[in-house]
Amino acid sequence: MKILVVGGGAREHAICWALTKSSRVSRVYCAPGNGGTEEVAQNVPIDSMNFEELIAFVKNVGIDLTICPMDTPLVAGIVDAFETAGLKIFGPNKEAAKIEGSKVFAKDFMRKYGIPTAGHENFSSYEAAMVYISTAKFPLVIKADGLAAGKGVIICPGIESAEIALDNMFNKRKFGASGANVVIEEYMHGVECSILALCDGENIIPMTSAKDHKAAYDRDYGPNTGGMGVISPNPAYTDEIADECMKKIFLPTMEGFKKEGINFVGVLFVGLMLTAGGAKVIEYNCRPGDPETQALALRLDTDLLEAIEACMNKNLDNLKIRWKNNAVCCVVAASRGYPNEFKTGLEIFGLRNFGRDVKVFHAGTKKEKNQLRTNGGRVLNVVASGDNLEEARELAYKTINEIDFMGMYYRSDIGDLQDAATLAISLNYARR
Ligand code: AMP
Ligand code: GLY
Repeated sequence: MKILVVGGGAREHAICWALTKSSRVSRVYCAPGNGGTEEVAQNVPIDSMNFEELIAFVKNVGIDLTICPMDTPLVAGIVDAFETAGLKIFGPNKEAAKIEGSKVFAKDFMRKYGIPTAGHENFSSYEAAMVYISTAKFPLVIKADGLAAGKGVIICPGIESAEIALDNMFNKRKFGASGANVVIEEYMHGVECSILALCDGENIIPMTSAKDHKAAYDRDYGPNTGGMGVISPNPAYTDEIADECMKKIFLPTMEGFKKEGINFVGVLFVGLMLTAGGAKVIEYNCRPGDPETQALALRLDTDLLEAIEACMNKNLDNLKIRWKNNAVCCVVAASRGYPNEFKTGLEIFGLRNFGRDVKVFHAGTKKEKNQLRTNGGRVLNVVASGDNLEEARELAYKTINEIDFMGMYYRSDIGDLQDAATLAISLNYARR
């Protein structure tokens, strides 16, 4: 089979790499791809939002299946466009992608189907939101309704920051149309956990757990980013919690989709907060997480194509998905200044084959005359596996120390379980 993967980040690199291991895949293409994807796939210089050109390419080359793991094209209806053209594509359609594309829709959906989440109110006017915060309890969280590249969520410790956030969203339109509607919700304390779940429109199968690290700097200081590292499994997500989430979150979510007439076929990302009052949903995404996917790729022990086909053929109840009995740690090497201003085009040094237990997935790189250069804020993902988290961490950090580019920075505490607050909360949670 010939497969096209839409996108050009480390998640897409990991998916291309996993697909090349399938005996049934003859060739992988990646549009637009990056300096790393070209090692395992053929890069195709078409923008992921240019559906017309993508469709023409797929028809021309005779691609059998397209996979879209990116939110923006999914929310804009890439699946509907491909299906109208009679082409096979893996991902949720536009209606199903609304679960990520509109936070108002997602929050109202959870309320309607009794799925545990932070209490919330929706606002479409600045004045009404200002009245609400004047008597609200802090901290609280203000979220722009639409996609905002991970930047539309503002945690407000007090009223001053809430006033600024509302002014930026409603009046200054800092998030464009995404900020025309706003969700204000209660702040949840706890341990975050990411679960990616396979969905075939009928069944939902949660995959193994992970823990993202969103803040730019150690100990969760600094601005939020697209993700600075991840570990899998997430030590706070015990079997007992997994059972509880299946009953109270995953199954009711699929039931809710069915009752709403939503045919969700794809990977549903469920961002959880494990609180002292049980697991609650922070958010849904309509696609596999980044960098979670990069970690899961080194743990998956089932043919990825087989799992995708089980979703597309409504056959998930017959899929036996297997995971290696290992632990994985992924550390992201970023450009100085990210998530704000940063330079690109800098030479990258030290990359080589690091052996069986390490993969370096490229996030923002490009090859120029055989020289690999930086081409984004997040540049490389060093993913290492071991028998346990400690081993995986050690190998990930030993490897990233061999790599360099001007201004490279990374967090030194990915998967550091000595974080007392995290441990205390998770233990308290487990003892309930
Ligand atoms: P989201 O884009 O909705 O995932 O939010 C980004 C990040 O903001 C999450 O990963 C959490 O760290 C944090 N966050 C969002 N909503 C809440 C909440 N209600 N309580 C605490 N933290 C939150
Ligand atoms: N890692 C979080 C996300 O993909 O949105």
